[in-house]
Amino acid sequence: METLRKLIHQIAEEGGLISATLSQRRNKSEEQAYTKVQIKPVELKGQLHYQLAYYFSNKVTHENILPALLEERLAELFETTFRQALLCTVDADYQVLISKKFKVSILTKAPSKTAGSLSHNRKKQYILEEGQAVPFLVELGIMNEDGKVFAKRFDKFRQINRFLEMIQDVAGDLPQDRPVTIVDFGCGKSYLTFALYHYLSVERRMRLNVVGLDLKADVIERCSVLANKLGYENLRFLVGDIADYDELSRVDMVVTLHACDTATDAALEKAVRWNASVILSVPCCQHELMGQVKSPVLDPLLSHGILKERFSALATDAIRAKLLDIMGYRTQLLEFIDMEHTPKNIMIRAVKGSSGDREGLWKEYVQFRQFLSALPYLENACRDLLPKAD
Ligand SMILES: C[S@@+](CC[C@H](N)C(=O)[O-])C[C@H]1O[C@@H](n2cnc3c(N)ncnc32)[C@H](O)[C@@H]1O
Repeated sequence: METLRKLIHQIAEEGGLISATLSQRRNKSEEQAYTKVQIKPVELKGQLHYQLAYYFSNKVTHENILPALLEERLAELFETTFRQALLCTVDADYQVLISKKFKVSILTKAPSKTAGSLSHNRKKQYILEEGQAVPFLVELGIMNEDGKVFAKRFDKFRQINRFLEMIQDVAGDLPQDRPVTIVDFGCGKSYLTFALYHYLSVERRMRLNVVGLDLKADVIERCSVLANKLGYENLRFLVGDIADYDELSRVDMVVTLHACDTATDAALEKAVRWNASVILSVPCCQHELMGQVKSPVLDPLLSHGILKERFSALATDAIRAKLLDIMGYRTQLLEFIDMEHTPKNIMIRAVKGSSGDREGLWKEYVQFRQFLSALPYLENACRDLLPKAD
């Protein structure tokens, strides 16, 4: 194995790996294990990574690692799992064979591949990739059974992936030592609820309990049928109003995506009262402040309906973010999906943890809402959780 370790070290140091395929599992009796791993360089957020695709009998999962981890990961795969590999680098191809007793033979050949510029990988890397059929995406009519995304559904496909990137970013903030409970308020047709369940439960193997809640009984019925069909045992859909939902006493993550107007605030209130670790909320049609906001200084802006509407929506989200900070969250506002696809594109991402001086934040908040002459829903709903109003 020493020669192989040296080769892996050399490849990892020189960074010339173009592709690798590892196959021939050592222990074939292990059920549900992956049978092949393919590795390729990809560019993510402007940085070189290696993407490992793990091939199971009925699915493929992906892991992106930094170059610093490549040597260790390859060594581990050779030492524990695979007996055969083809490593294609800029300098040579290496055919690796390892006997049952770990005797290694390496055949070196002229390089069969050129490095390219990662240009095809410069295409956006998605968590769910086109070309690999994902059951829930097939069922929801986003891709066909060969994994080809329908042209008309590409925006939805992109939105689902963007959402999953955000889930990926917060997965570490969720409890790791027990099943995680997630509620999606105003789940509607539940594309993103299914995506979330697939990603966390099927791909990341987390223990989950997910509830999707919506007012519309017919939509909820269809979602329940689909969850059953997909075998998503811990995904339930319920009919109900967010403000009245009181079935659970502990919830770790609350999601709301385009829940209308103050339905978003009702969901944020629930999340805060549950002490949820993570809140992901993309608001929609924030009308509340539109009827309240008044400020002579802002007249040149507020006298135009279209500007007043947009300003009110932005001010509503600023208020929500500040109130969450005051109530013990670290809150960020992020672009959910390109503006060209939907103007409702701001995501409130709040993770449990202090944002600093609570009294100072409260003072800032009060000044802001007084300046706007606003009385926001969320402040009223969470009165008992906030500092005393002046
Ligand atoms: C624009 S849809 C978004 C659906 C889904 N979250 C998505 O992103 O595709 C808004 C959904 O919120 C639901 N909704 C609005 N107010 C609600 C409330 N108070 N309680 C439960 N659901 C609500 C509506 O029935 C509708 O299905």
